[in-house]
Amino acid sequence: MCGIIGFTGARDCAELLIRGLEQLEYRGYDSAGIAVAGADGFAVCKAVGRIANLREKLGAALPAGHTGIGHTRWATHGRPSEENCHPHLDEKGRVAVVHNGIIENYLALKARLEEAGVRFSSETDTEVVAQLLGYYYTGDMKQTLLKVLPMLEGSFALGVLDANAPDALYCARRHSPLLVGLGRGEQYIASDAAALIEHTREMITLEDGDIGVLTAAGAAIYGPDGAPRARAPMHVSWDAGAARKNGYPHFMLKEICEQPQALRDTLAHYVDLERLEIRREQMPFDRQQALALKELTIAACGTAYHAGMMGRALLENIAGVRARAEIASEYRYGPVILPGGGPDSAVFLAVSQSGETADTLAALRRAKGLGMRAIAFSNVIGASIAREADTVMYTLAGPEIAVASTKAYLTQVLLFEILALDLAHLRGRITGEALKQRLAQLAALPGQAQAVLNRKEMVLNFAKRNRACRDVFFIGRLTDYTTSLEAALKLKEVSYLHSEAYAAGELKHGTIALIDEETLVAAIATQPEILQKTYANMQEVKARGAYLLLIGTPGANLPEDCEVWPVEGVHPTLAPLLATIYAQLLAYYTALMHGCDIDKPRNLAKSVTVE
Ligand code: F6R
Repeated sequence: MCGIIGFTGARDCAELLIRGLEQLEYRGYDSAGIAVAGADGFAVCKAVGRIANLREKLGAALPAGHTGIGHTRWATHGRPSEENCHPHLDEKGRVAVVHNGIIENYLALKARLEEAGVRFSSETDTEVVAQLLGYYYTGDMKQTLLKVLPMLEGSFALGVLDANAPDALYCARRHSPLLVGLGRGEQYIASDAAALIEHTREMITLEDGDIGVLTAAGAAIYGPDGAPRARAPMHVSWDAGAARKNGYPHFMLKEICEQPQALRDTLAHYVDLERLEIRREQMPFDRQQALALKELTIAACGTAYHAGMMGRALLENIAGVRARAEIASEYRYGPVILPGGGPDSAVFLAVSQSGETADTLAALRRAKGLGMRAIAFSNVIGASIAREADTVMYTLAGPEIAVASTKAYLTQVLLFEILALDLAHLRGRITGEALKQRLAQLAALPGQAQAVLNRKEMVLNFAKRNRACRDVFFIGRLTDYTTSLEAALKLKEVSYLHSEAYAAGELKHGTIALIDEETLVAAIATQPEILQKTYANMQEVKARGAYLLLIGTPGANLPEDCEVWPVEGVHPTLAPLLATIYAQLLAYYTALMHGCDIDKPRNLAKSVTVE
């Protein structure tokens, strides 16, 4: 996602900031900018597109100054443009800010400041931070931060410059990572180690609530009460490649582990978690359109198609909206029968991480050609599918670099959950009170995802024990069947192991002939009303010699000698997401055991722009 770099020391820093931004390019971005503190305020330069554009704009004469901040922006609030690009300044040009994360209450804060006469110049949530710091400025930036940060809801990693203190660099963190790099006579901040490694290997990881005040002489860290905090630096021994992965051996594992944050960011964009209300301005249907809706057709490919299948079930179960999930490459050529009715009766929804998949784009064009309104879920701002859709809902998963899609899938399913709840409410299927309860359950999801990730050693040990396994069948019913499809796809694409998904009740109609002592059957069973049915299917395959894994809810009649990866204490519509995380980890660790090229599996491409 976005990247931060900051420096204070005794040398001019503009070149160092740009170099730092280049080290962060792998995270994905659509614009970049720097601010350098000089004797007469800030020199600011911003450019849309590549960092090369920023270099070109700056020309040969880089601004002089020993303290500065830089940022690569991956647009969330507001399109990629110079106005929206960081650093943001307050209206008096006294404060400069770079920010990663999302300020959830920025609209309310902005309205308050505008009432007080403050003029804004961008669409971003970040500008609110700069304006607040300018508005409440006490003459001392540390004190001002202590006053302003409690007003902010959401997540942030901040780099801040104060024109009155051009030899100091300020920073703060809540829920978004930020490192402080310690050098000799110079200090740094960065969103990840990749930007710092060529300067220093001594780094402090800021903790939530920390505020840092950095000068050439050193770095002082304070807690939210303003009292000093001792933070021991770590020595980073990674090479530059590992640093880009923040110490993870592969992007796939990094992205699996980023899922709690991806869920949190996406949720915060669509739901006011304080009031437990859906942000109506982000939703594609008003009440009239929701009532007129007769059928929603979802089209996508691969993992995004599985998200679409999950979406179909959520829309039907929660909102009572008839929905179909179509493989985009089939939809583009197959017959389409529209339900009849007004222009809002048949709506099309494309799901895509990259926003560039050729078949999904063609399906969207076809639907539009048939007169349907087209909505898109996209993880990439301004991608072709996002541009051509009538309405876009972005997943805020951050850039996905590993070929195998993980965090995008979870956020796509989360979006379907929010959409289904919104439609259910608009169509009078659930009360406002029930909606709040469901949103509160959604708010707990990132923490529950983290609890699954905390058990990753268990999955690793299982993968070690089962490295000789030849065939894997994933079985499940209803949404657990959809999770089985995703689990089988993930396992085969990264580990090259043969894996299949079957609706649990269907196996005995033929495929059960393949089951023997060398077959692992992983049953996904999270749905209380059909748990016993899936257990019974597990008994059938156990009787044929298969060895068993349950990803789901254990209970009476579960076959003995079955490994259990628990999914418990979560609403049934959210349970598949937690089961999916286990399946992703299983795919990852199995591929690791087999020595596969995990981030770039053979024959696959991240963005499939051909038919
Ligand atoms: C599997 C995977 C692919 C993509 C598919 C669609 O892990 O990543 O199946 O899901 O190629 O890609 P997007 O979502 O970019 O349209």
